[in-house]
Amino acid sequence: MKFYILTLFPEMVMQGLSTSIIGRAADKGLLAIEAINIRDYTNNKHGKVDDYPYGGGAGMVMQAQPIYDAWKAIIEKEGKKIPTVYLTPQGRTFCQQDAKTFATEDAIILLCGHYEGVDERVLEEIVTDYVSIGDFVLTGGELPAMVMVDAISRMVPGVLSNKVSGETESFENGLLEYPQYSRPEEWMGKKVPAIILSGDHAKVDAWRHEQSLLRTRQRRPDLLQKATLSAKDIEFLKENE
Ligand code: ADE
Repeated sequence: MKFYILTLFPEMVMQGLSTSIIGRAADKGLLAIEAINIRDYTNNKHGKVDDYPYGGGAGMVMQAQPIYDAWKAIIEKEGKKIPTVYLTPQGRTFCQQDAKTFATEDAIILLCGHYEGVDERVLEEIVTDYVSIGDFVLTGGELPAMVMVDAISRMVPGVLSNKVSGETESFENGLLEYPQYSRPEEWMGKKVPAIILSGDHAKVDAWRHEQSLLRTRQRRPDLLQKATLSAKDIEFLKENE
């Protein structure tokens, strides 16, 4: 899968995505990440990418022309239109299902805004999806773009080495993941739950599922409302109120 990131800070994006699992997947050729400097597409000799907002107001607005030309160069290279995401607090909130859906694309473009915004006319022309990573305002779209690349990439086949880890994790069944333990068996007087050490896989699975239910109710009751629960799950939660 190929990610094109349109940004004024390509080094920031590339540095953040060149390490760990994502960096290794890129080295292996499972992913390609290209950060494109919008400034390279200005047609003024000062490399100016922003100007004052018509109608007045605080800050500067990123101008349409360099963004459009940078986008057009990608589309011409790809030979077809591809999903173009504008990172903005005004978008729909990104979720795990979106990560999975985007992971089925061959290529996507992520447009990072800055200053007070981007000239609306270029957004109308190129954007297919307006995406936010949460109800807070950041200084630019770079961190949200990196968040999206990370979440989408780990859903691309082959990127995660352990095949099951993408299936048992939080959100996969509408619930949060169960607690995990590793060595030693006792730490600071706290013992690993005996059932985990029992070697009885069916019992361990059942216990983990129950822990997922309890944890989701405690930390994210909103998720529990939407999850599909069995009669047994509902009974278990009632018994453990
Ligand atoms: N740009 C600034 N804040 C943002 C947010 N919360 N999500 C996506 N893009 C943004």
